[in-house]
Amino acid sequence: MLVPLLHDAEEDDRRIAQTIEDITHTAYIAQDGDTTVGAVVMHWDVDESEIVYIATVPSLRGGGYGKAIMGCVVDEARGRQVKAVYVGTANSSWPTIAFYQKCGFRMDSVRKDFFDYFPKPIYEDGIQMRDMLVLKLEIE
Ligand SMILES: CC(C)(COP(=O)(O)OP(=O)(O)OC[C@H]1O[C@@H](n2cnc3c(N)ncnc32)[C@H](O)[C@@H]1OP(=O)(O)O)[C@@H](O)C(=O)NCCC(=O)NCCS
Repeated sequence: MLVPLLHDAEEDDRRIAQTIEDITHTAYIAQDGDTTVGAVVMHWDVDESEIVYIATVPSLRGGGYGKAIMGCVVDEARGRQVKAVYVGTANSSWPTIAFYQKCGFRMDSVRKDFFDYFPKPIYEDGIQMRDMLVLKLEIE
């Protein structure tokens, strides 16, 4: 169930499955009543927690569920006394960069040439995926 939900966040389904199985990660399914609306995978750490994957059901995007899931992440982070949540995204993933900033994340750093390991160049909206932008949300 989680792998198809998260497929738009990571093309490699095997990698998603491995990440979920890794005991250092915690996966959550988001529901509105009986309806599954999305999922998020977290790596919790007091100093530097990380959103590994987050996705909402394609037909429900733009309906506020992404922000609602993020609200739950922040509440859980507070409960765990986490100081900051980080997320990494590609320089080419403009909609995702917009989404994180709408959720309060700020630019933190750039990991240049992070995506060099791809055997062939990948483009999103005509922009080559090259660098990883790291965004940070300080938890107050
Ligand atoms: C990124 C994603 C989780 C956002 O979920 P969502 O349910 O569409 O988000 P919301 O409806 O809560 O939108 C929250 C805000 O982000 C903005 N936003 C969401 N998608 C956007 C887009 N494609 N372009 C611009 N802004 C966007 C919304 O306009 C909204 O802004 P507002 O608060 O001013 O109204 C969803 O698009 C998704 O699952 N994408 C595929 C997976 C992915 O790329 N995950 C991230 C990498 S791990």
